[in-house]
Amino acid sequence: MTKVLFGGDYNPEQWPEKVWQEDDRLFDAARIDTLTLGVFTWALTQPSMDVYDFTTLDQIVGRAAAQGRSICLATGTGAHPAWLARGHPEVTRTDFEGRKHRYGQRHNSCPSSPIFRRLSAEVAERIAERYGPDPAVVAWHVGNEYGGACYCALCADGFRAWLRERYGTLEALNTAWYTAFWGHRFSDWAEIEPPSALTEHWRGPDHTAFQGITLDYLRFMSDAMLACFVEEKAAIRRHSDKPVTTNFMGMYRLLDYHRWAPHLDFASWDNYPPDDRSPAWMALAHDLVRGLKDGRPFWLMEQTPSVTASRDVNPLKRPGVLRLWSWQAVAHGADAVLFFQMRASRGACEKYHGAVIGHAGRSDTRVFREVAALGAELERLGGASLGARTPARVALLFDWDSRWALEISDGPSRHVRYQQVVLTYYQALWDAGVDVDVVAVTADLSRYDVVVAPALHMLKGDLAARLEQLAARGGSVVTTFLSGRVDEHDQAFLMDVPGPLGPLTGVRVDEWDAREPEVVNPVRLGGADFPGRLVFELVIPAGAEVVGTYQADFYAGGPAVTKNAFGAGWGWYVATDLDVEGVAWVMRQALAPYGLTGPYADVPGLESAVRITPAGKRLRFLLNHNDTPVTVLACVTGIDLLTGAHIELGDPLAFPAYGVMILSEYS
Ligand code: GLA
Ligand code: ZN
Repeated sequence: MTKVLFGGDYNPEQWPEKVWQEDDRLFDAARIDTLTLGVFTWALTQPSMDVYDFTTLDQIVGRAAAQGRSICLATGTGAHPAWLARGHPEVTRTDFEGRKHRYGQRHNSCPSSPIFRRLSAEVAERIAERYGPDPAVVAWHVGNEYGGACYCALCADGFRAWLRERYGTLEALNTAWYTAFWGHRFSDWAEIEPPSALTEHWRGPDHTAFQGITLDYLRFMSDAMLACFVEEKAAIRRHSDKPVTTNFMGMYRLLDYHRWAPHLDFASWDNYPPDDRSPAWMALAHDLVRGLKDGRPFWLMEQTPSVTASRDVNPLKRPGVLRLWSWQAVAHGADAVLFFQMRASRGACEKYHGAVIGHAGRSDTRVFREVAALGAELERLGGASLGARTPARVALLFDWDSRWALEISDGPSRHVRYQQVVLTYYQALWDAGVDVDVVAVTADLSRYDVVVAPALHMLKGDLAARLEQLAARGGSVVTTFLSGRVDEHDQAFLMDVPGPLGPLTGVRVDEWDAREPEVVNPVRLGGADFPGRLVFELVIPAGAEVVGTYQADFYAGGPAVTKNAFGAGWGWYVATDLDVEGVAWVMRQALAPYGLTGPYADVPGLESAVRITPAGKRLRFLLNHNDTPVTVLACVTGIDLLTGAHIELGDPLAFPAYGVMILSEYS
C-alpha cells in the first residue's frame, strides 16, 4: 500500500460488457485504485449444486487486475442462491415470530445449517484457490454485513450445544439463568427452547421473562454467525495469506464485534449515519471500529457518494460533504476510503442508491466531480497518513453485554437506550476536541488518563479492580446511572448499587425513580441548571463530594453528580441522564487535570483529530462540519498537506463550509 485506497463496491456482472470499458475510463479519471468485487456472486459462480462457473468473474477480476487496480475480493456469500434454498429449505431462517422463511432478499441464511456452512466455505475455498495467487487481490471480503437472527430447530440444537460448552452442567445453567423464579428449572437440555415470541418473550425481542436465556441467545447468535465467518476464512487461508475482513455496521446491536475482532485480520465498516447532523455519531463509530484491532488502521468499506435508497426519505449529501466525511474517516484511522457503489444498479431496490457513476454514465455530474477531486487529493496526500495511530489518553468503554442487559431489562425505564447514553458522553468529548479510543471492557486501560464508562450495566471479570488501579495512580473514571448493576449472568449484585464500583465512586444508590421522557429534573452544576431525564438515582455519598444536586421533587437538594477522591485520582458518578451540555460540564471538570481538551474545544462543529505516523510525525486533521465558514488561529506551525501551504502558529485559518485541513506539524 502506498496511499489511502480509493474506490468501492463494483458489480459489473449486472450490466453488459460494453459498459465495462466506459467504467474503466471513468475510474481512471477519478483515480479509482481499488475495487471490491463479487459481493453477491454466489449464484453466478455456482449456478447449481455440482457446477462452478468462473467465466464472468474471471473476466471481471482479470480486467481490474489488468487496469492496475487493487482488488478486495468477496467470497460472494452475502446472499445464497435460489437453488440452494429450494433444494435445502433448512438454509433459510425462522424468524422471532416463528415464521419459516422461504427464498428471498439476502442475509437470510441460517447460521447453523450444515449445508449452508459447508457450501459457503466451499465456494470461498474455490475463489481463494483461483484468485489468491493474483497479486492484484489485496484483501478478502467474507459475506456481507452479517446480522439478524434465526430461531429454527437447527439453531435450537446449536444453542443447546453452545450452552453445554458454556455451562457444563444443567445445574450451572439453572443457577445462571435463575430458573428457580417461576419454577423454570430445566431437567434436560432438550427442554431448552430459543427465546422468541413463542416462548419467553411477551412483546418483542427486548421484552423477555428471563433475561439470562435471552442474553445467552444473543451471545450464541453472534458466535454462530462468527463461526460462518471463521469457516470461510479458514478455507481462504488454505490458499492465500492475504488479510481477511468482513464489513461491520458501526455500532450494530446484534453482533458483539469485540468477540469477532480477534478473528479479523483488519477491521472495516460501512458508514451510513442516521442523518446528516451526526458527525459525532460517525466519529464514535470510527473510533469503535479502530478499537477493535487495538488502534490499528481500518477500512471504510462503504459509504454512499450521494444518497441512500432504503430510507423513507433519502436526502442528498450536500456539496463538500462526501469529501468532509471521507477525510473524517481518515482522521480517525481509515487507510481505505471506499464507496457503495461504483456504478448504479439499473433495477431492483438499489436502482436509486447513489453511485460514483449514474445510469447515464456521465462524468460531468456534481457527484463524479467531487469523487474525482477527492481522488486527486488522496493522491496528493500519498502515504503520509498510512499506518498512523491515534494518541488517545481517554478511553470510552463500549460493551455489547451491558447494552443487551440494559435494553432487555424490565425496569427501571424502557426509554434508556445504551447507544444514546454512550453517544451523549462521546459527543461531549468530541465537542471538546479530545482524541478518544473506544474499547472493550477487557482492553488494557493502563495507557489512559481518563476512562468513561456510561451505563455500564454489567460488570464482568476484574474490571472494577482495573478501574480502581487507574484512579489509584492518578487517573479518573467517569461512570453513570445504571452502572454496576449485574454480573455476567444478569443477576443483581448482593450489595449496594453501584456494586463493585462502590468503593471507587464513593456512593451508594438507595433507590431510583424513572419518569416519562418529558419530565425534567434540573441538575445544578457550577451555578447553572442542566436537564436530567428518564432515570433519577437517589444517591447517598459514602465519601464522595457532591458536585451537582437535583432541583425538583422530593429528592430536591440530593446528589445527582459526585466526585470521589480515590488514591491519586478520582471516581465520578452521574446519577441521571443529563443532556449533552450537562455531560459536557462534567467531562470538562473530569478532563481538567490532564490538559486533554483540543485547541478548538470552544468552536462548535470544528472537529480536531490527531494521528501520529509510524515515523513519529504528528498530523492534525481539522474538519469544519458547519454549513457556514469558520476562521480560527493556527495551533501549530507546519504544512497543510492538502494545499502545501506553510502555516505559522497563530495564522488565521479560514475554513469554508465543510472545509478540511490536514496540518503536518514541523518537529
Ligand atoms: C449495505 C450493503 C450494500 C448496499 C448498501 C446500500 O451497506 O453492504 O450491499 O446494500 O448497504 O446502502
Ligand atoms: Zn437457524
